[in-house]
Amino acid sequence: MRASVLEYLACPVCCSALRLRKSHLYRGNITSGRIRCQICRRTYPLVLGRPILLPPGARSTWIPDVSEVLGHVRRPLANKRPLEPLAKLGIDSVLADLRRPWEDLRSGPRRWRISDELLRGAHSRRSGWLCYRGRKRSRITGLADIVEPLPRLQRNRSEIEEMVVQVRRLRPGSLLDLASGGGWFVGRFLYHNKTVRQCVAIERDLQCLWTLEYKFRHVSAGQRAEAVGGDVRALPVLDDVFDVVTCSNALGEIAGISAFLAEAYRVLRSGGHFLLCHSERPIRYRPLTLLDYRRLAVAADLFTDREYLLKLAEKVGFVLEDCVSTEHRDGTPRFVARLRKE
Ligand SMILES: C[S@@+](CC[C@H](N)C(=O)[O-])C[C@H]1O[C@@H](n2cnc3c(N)ncnc32)[C@H](O)[C@@H]1O
Ligand SMILES: [Zn+2]
Repeated sequence: MRASVLEYLACPVCCSALRLRKSHLYRGNITSGRIRCQICRRTYPLVLGRPILLPPGARSTWIPDVSEVLGHVRRPLANKRPLEPLAKLGIDSVLADLRRPWEDLRSGPRRWRISDELLRGAHSRRSGWLCYRGRKRSRITGLADIVEPLPRLQRNRSEIEEMVVQVRRLRPGSLLDLASGGGWFVGRFLYHNKTVRQCVAIERDLQCLWTLEYKFRHVSAGQRAEAVGGDVRALPVLDDVFDVVTCSNALGEIAGISAFLAEAYRVLRSGGHFLLCHSERPIRYRPLTLLDYRRLAVAADLFTDREYLLKLAEKVGFVLEDCVSTEHRDGTPRFVARLRKE
């Protein structure tokens, strides 16, 4: 981690500035140590060079948004939203028992920990090897896509390419990418933009941090981009510091969309832009009816559709500048929205 990125980061609990403790620096890079909040005095670890600034109530692994609001604690099968049990229970009983886990993210006992398994995975991910169960290993994919040229015509661009083009036009000095996952957008953006001086990618599924680190190095952005462990509903970022905030294809996985939008607004400087892209189609709701799914999504503050999202964004204070329709590579319709903080 580079020491200069601390000018942007904050304690996720009280949003105050952070200081290094017992750290070692080598050529501006912090190689070991801890990070401490100057006000509430909480400390946060630096793990294999990555700052982990998760608030105490956060999760550190992937979990579907629906499981999170229902309080499922075990790691569910990948990409499986637990809608079948919901349909069996009946939506009214589910609505009576909903949780809003992001409301106590900043308090309570710590829920995340750094396991040995995570550390083992981290070593292999940062070297460009991704470890799957036991011995089977495969290379981190997606690097070929990152270096592909951008189509000139808007109608030929995927949603990620459209975001890259739009952000590039804004010429940001600093950029914050939220829920960065495997870095499909942020990796591509950094490859096609050499002028952004400070880029921070926030992700709570900690395994992704080292994949991101590897991708940043691969596109020669290791000295201007940083992968940080954090929750997008309690961002470890100071107020009013970033020129541009982005979030690509993650809305359907975030529980607490209003808190996420409010945090994006808080960390943007005035006049700064927030760019989002996502699928136009309603996300998978079967075997619930669409009406029941919408009741659940509105009550639990999950993503429903672009109109409702843009309404929530306006409530937070954003002004909609533009919203374009485009297509993902698989042909599914997507939108790219550009919002501005007044
Ligand atoms: C589909 S991936 C995002 C893809 C990514 N933006 C890209 O361009 O490659 C969605 C990510 O959102 C992350 N996520 C969901 N809720 C989050 C939260 N509250 N805080 C941080 N990350 C979150 C998930 O862990 C997952 O990695
Ligand atoms: Zn603090």
